Amino acid sequence: MKISVVGLGYIGLPTGAMLAEAGHEVCGFDVNAQLRSRLRAGEIPGTENPVRELAAKAIAEGRMRVSERIESADAYVICTPTPTIDNRPDLSFVEAAATAVAAAARPGDLIVLESTVPPGTTERIVGNALRRAGKKPGEFRIAHCPERVIPGNIVYELRHNARVIGGRTASDARYARDLYASFVDGELMLTDCTTAELVKVVENTYRDVNIAFANELALLAEELGVDVWETIELANKHPRVNILRPGPGVGGHCIPVDPHFLSNANPFSTELIQTARRVNERMPHRVVRRVVEYVPGEPAEKKIALLGAAYKADVDDARESPTQRVEELLRERGYRTCVYDPLVTSFSRPLCASLEEAVAEADALILMTDHAAFRAVEPGMAGGLMRGRVLIDARRFFDAESWRAAGFTTYVLGARASSSLADLAMA
Ligand SMILES: NC(=O)c1ccc[n+]([C@@H]2O[C@H](COP(=O)([O-])OP(=O)(O)OC[C@H]3O[C@@H](n4cnc5c(N)ncnc54)[C@H](O)[C@@H]3O)[C@@H](O)[C@H]2O)c1
Repeated sequence: MKISVVGLGYIGLPTGAMLAEAGHEVCGFDVNAQLRSRLRAGEIPGTENPVRELAAKAIAEGRMRVSERIESADAYVICTPTPTIDNRPDLSFVEAAATAVAAAARPGDLIVLESTVPPGTTERIVGNALRRAGKKPGEFRIAHCPERVIPGNIVYELRHNARVIGGRTASDARYARDLYASFVDGELMLTDCTTAELVKVVENTYRDVNIAFANELALLAEELGVDVWETIELANKHPRVNILRPGPGVGGHCIPVDPHFLSNANPFSTELIQTARRVNERMPHRVVRRVVEYVPGEPAEKKIALLGAAYKADVDDARESPTQRVEELLRERGYRTCVYDPLVTSFSRPLCASLEEAVAEADALILMTDHAAFRAVEPGMAGGLMRGRVLIDARRFFDAESWRAAGFTTYVLGARASSSLADLAMA
């Protein structure tokens, strides 16, 4: 088939490359002109090597072209962003893409929306776009195939994950399944569009609620003098319990965003979902409160080093990262901040060039992201460069014992291993 992929970001680019590898003729389009030229020149953004290799190969061999417009094709796969503005879904990118696809599409073509959207969106937006273009939606095949890959392992998961394929009709779903079967080894499960949309947002909302539960337990455990990490590990030995890990907040552009797609659909039937969101949104404030407690003195005279800008370990993605929020809150209080991340290149503020620059003369170090690269951070090295010796570990990442042995006062989220504030006052 000839396939037009619309939106060549984290999802669209590897999806296009996989389709090309499967033997389809792929033409990709992105509104970002700079990205188009870079891709054509073989410059693949991102740090995921399998994605870079796959995309570079598909483009170099001419199996995937980057075009200046959406070309007419047998199938269109829309992978544009769906952020929220003030916690409300912003569907403008999907609407713009659907409008452009509707102009190019011919009866019989398949239009797939992969972007995560509130239930009911695919049929409404794609249908309306076709009607506006003077076309009859019933003459097209329309499907929603939500993407479920995890950043960091995209190529593997694109091939092996099970996919939910929702069709406007059962026959549309089967037609879309045949396309996905050409590059997906995982199970392909057919349903209607709205169910597929709901399944996707339910999955991420489930994780958000579960993390909120872990975060609440972490705060409770601190008050009880119990280690939450041990508690969760032991509780998870139960065959039907799987509590996720607490942390400084929930980031990425999926888990903190998708629950709003549900709570906007009906604010009165989603109280648990909204409460979970609030619990997670408060976590950056908890981290900042620890800074205030463990680093007494005039904030303007204090420098706080933050390790990790990415929202989770070993990825280069800082979207909605808790580090952004913690940094903002610290600066609002007057602290000087320095964020270091060996993987992230794009962040809300300039990043420090090196670990040494971040920790130099810092009064406290906050471990925000559990990147494997941070395993190499030695308390002796950090302490030698820092002015103060405070470690705030929001992920229970470091061995607190060895940091205390190096003279650090430590706070570890939800752990018994934190230095008490009474000890700090004595020091
Ligand atoms: N990244 C992930 O891991 C992931 C996982 C599951 C689901 N999703 C969902 O997939 C969708 C895409 O996410 P992403 O991470 O690839 O986003 P992204 O921001 O990395 O890429 C989106 C691309 O679309 C382009 N774009 C915007 N409007 C356009 C238009 N009208 N026409 C053509 N191109 C346009 C942008 O320039 C950008 O390059 C979102 O709905 C997201 O929630 C992402």
